[in-house]
Amino acid sequence: MIIDRKIKVLRIYMKISVVGGGYVGLVTGTCFAELGHEVTIIEVDPVKVSAINHGDPPIYEAGLKDLLKKNAERKLRASTGYEPVSSAEIVFIAVGTPPKPDGSVNLSYIESASVSIGRSLKENPSYCVVIVKSTVPPGTTETIVRPAVLQASGKTENEIGFAMNPEFLREGRAVEDFLHPDRIVIGSSNPRAGDRVAEVYRNLTAPVLRTGLTAAEMIKYASNAFLATKISFSNEIGNLCKKLGIDVYEVMTGVGLDARIGPLFLNAGAGFGGSCFPKDVSALVSLAESVGEDPTLLHSVLAVNEQQPCRMIQILETRIGAVNGKRIAILGLAFKDNTDDIRDSRAIPVIRELVQKGANVVAYDPMAIPNMRQVFPTIEYYETAAGALAGADACLVMTEWPEFSKIDKEFDLMAHPVIIEGRRILSRKGIEGICW
Ligand code: UGA
Repeated sequence: MIIDRKIKVLRIYMKISVVGGGYVGLVTGTCFAELGHEVTIIEVDPVKVSAINHGDPPIYEAGLKDLLKKNAERKLRASTGYEPVSSAEIVFIAVGTPPKPDGSVNLSYIESASVSIGRSLKENPSYCVVIVKSTVPPGTTETIVRPAVLQASGKTENEIGFAMNPEFLREGRAVEDFLHPDRIVIGSSNPRAGDRVAEVYRNLTAPVLRTGLTAAEMIKYASNAFLATKISFSNEIGNLCKKLGIDVYEVMTGVGLDARIGPLFLNAGAGFGGSCFPKDVSALVSLAESVGEDPTLLHSVLAVNEQQPCRMIQILETRIGAVNGKRIAILGLAFKDNTDDIRDSRAIPVIRELVQKGANVVAYDPMAIPNMRQVFPTIEYYETAAGALAGADACLVMTEWPEFSKIDKEFDLMAHPVIIEGRRILSRKGIEGICW
């Protein structure tokens, strides 16, 4: 530990290794460096390592570039090898936990990271805590990470502690969420390991909840499943409100004012996408089924979400008839605003169906075009909303980009002014929404 006595408040800086330089690992590592810790990010991809060391984030994340530029090659380094673990006081595992085809979680990266960490901890002379940050099914830290690390290191739990510390970072707002969390959850195998984790967060102001390992793992799944449930609930109410001629946004504003419910994550629309909610709810379903439970509510949360994009096409066909040969403009490709991430974006099933039906699909997004080009290389992309809208027979809005609220005259370029919103974002009057 490094104690900086020059600062009025006594700050204890730690040597941290973060395994995984994806959005969670990179944001976590960079923010810990910003808090004064000495951080090494261990990442297999040498291109990412070099970018991080040059202060150039390989992903877009608001505020990350500035923090990385400030801390790279000073408090923060990246490396392809695990050597830094041999002098670390804390090691975070932040590798991917992708879904298998049946919805359950592929833990192979967690397993191989644990073995590599264990091998390097052999050389570590001090007590070290291995912390799982990745989203993993309950029991993973205890039954996969712990034995793999202990076996590979040849050490005991007197020398290595284990903890699970879920992240609650939203893409696009991850730096802000890290530095100003609603809560910090620390699950640990024993108080000593948990105390070390609490120490690393001491410069942040947030309630800290200490639990066992499995409860911390479950808190992450339950949180994401609940947020996804709020969205599917709003969408179900929204679909009904549309039939009854009621404004679902007025309804949900009234519902959200109840302190027991809260106003956030009640925006009805085209459904949830991204790398977390669809994957984590499916993983929870699969976990429940593996122990003989039938998670009826979670099945419905996913079913509502799958149906929402189809509704966009149904509304479109009601308005313009068959889409074959018609120019359909898609505004928004990212799974939400402020990111270039298109994983499980609700725009994907919509574009796929339109292409299958023979529509001439054209698209605009402020950030996500290069990523969507990989999925749909043949549709036409435009650098401006006006370009996509010019001559269009209809327009579908798929992402809640704030800049879309300023689009107005550009809609006059359309051949026919049929505009359908999958996100309530436009300010123009008389627009039809997916559930409004
Ligand atoms: C989500 C959680 O919000 C984070 O707390 C969590 O850490 C993260 O997953 C994760 O597990 O790593 P994220 O997927 O980045 O974060 O994005 P959100 O802002 O939660 O949005 C998810 C999706 O829900 C987006 O497609 C968004 O458009 C949609 N959404 C969100 C709605 O349809 N309605 C809403 O009211 C809110």
